[in-house]
Amino acid sequence: MTFLMLSFPERVEVFRRHFARDLPEVTFASDAAAVDPADVRYLMCWTFPDQLETRYPNLELIFSVGAGIDQVTGVPIPPGARLVRMVESGITTLMRDYVVMAVLALHRRLPAFIDQQRRAEWKSQPFVWADQRRVGVLGLGELAQAALGALAPFGFQLSGWSRSPKEIDGVRCHHGPDGLAAMLAETDILVCLLPLTPETRGILNADLFAQLPQGASLVQVGRGGHMDAAALLAALDSGHLDAAFVDVTEPEPLPADHPLWSHPRVVLTPHVAAHTRADSAAEATISNLRLHLSGQDPKGLVDPARGY
Ligand code: NAP
Ligand code: GLV
Repeated sequence: MTFLMLSFPERVEVFRRHFARDLPEVTFASDAAAVDPADVRYLMCWTFPDQLETRYPNLELIFSVGAGIDQVTGVPIPPGARLVRMVESGITTLMRDYVVMAVLALHRRLPAFIDQQRRAEWKSQPFVWADQRRVGVLGLGELAQAALGALAPFGFQLSGWSRSPKEIDGVRCHHGPDGLAAMLAETDILVCLLPLTPETRGILNADLFAQLPQGASLVQVGRGGHMDAAALLAALDSGHLDAAFVDVTEPEPLPADHPLWSHPRVVLTPHVAAHTRADSAAEATISNLRLHLSGQDPKGLVDPARGY
């Protein structure tokens, strides 16, 4: 019963130590060439090795190293194997912090002040109290709920949108297509924390931006494939949108001559909003394997029909 981990050496060594200490009954391996493929029951990777469907015939669980699984969408997996995304406190806290940072920066008009600073322009900007600022989040999953929880103490008006109906204290919850339109019409700062699926690809487009109130802003921390960058730039240039934090693009890295790099009201970060933390991810994975070994579903199990 082997757990094969394909990742970079520093992360692998942390996992190896945790497995040796906390789950010695499972053989930990990181060299694909040195294992008998028939022994591999559990695989952790980011993208799949070639011919995964036939390479490890006895696979039961495939763990994504990260929260997203869109990088493997549509790639066949062995019959009987199930895919698990990463749910762990390192990713969650980093994303929570990034979203709070970006929402506060947009709320306090930081991109406009940085632009003014470049021109040595000493000028105030219109002021809005936090309790008059409406923050809407696309997605109400692990990361979105952590971000909303951290935004609550600032006093923002909070709302969120998901596929299925939800009830979250202090958050106006919307779902489905009608819910999306209702939320967008009442959102000053929109945060995208959706998974990339056929349904959500391209969701941040000209039509969606037009449904936001004049002067709204965007925090794009989902996946590059969610956003039409040309539509964002057009909405910023027309003055309909005020500013944006963009952490994910398509393609990544973003080509050096892409206009997003130099737009005065775009803050661009290179897909760093969140990152897997080795020790907490090892603990989360071992706890998931224990659930699986006792016949229960692991946390973060992907539903192939929904695509996330
Ligand atoms: P999650 O727990 O699976 O939550 C996904 C949320 O999106 C759920 O609330 C789900 O609704 C909603 N959703 C999915 N499809 C929808 C649709 N068609 N319409 C409306 N709502 C929909 O995922 P997570 O762990 O929070 O992660 C979210 C995403 O963050 C990842 O998939 C990845 O794209 C992104 N991410 C980015 C970074 C970064 O560094 N930028 C790092 C990590 C993750 P239900 O609740 O109804 O199912
Ligand atoms: C990073 O983007 C992740 O999916 O964990």
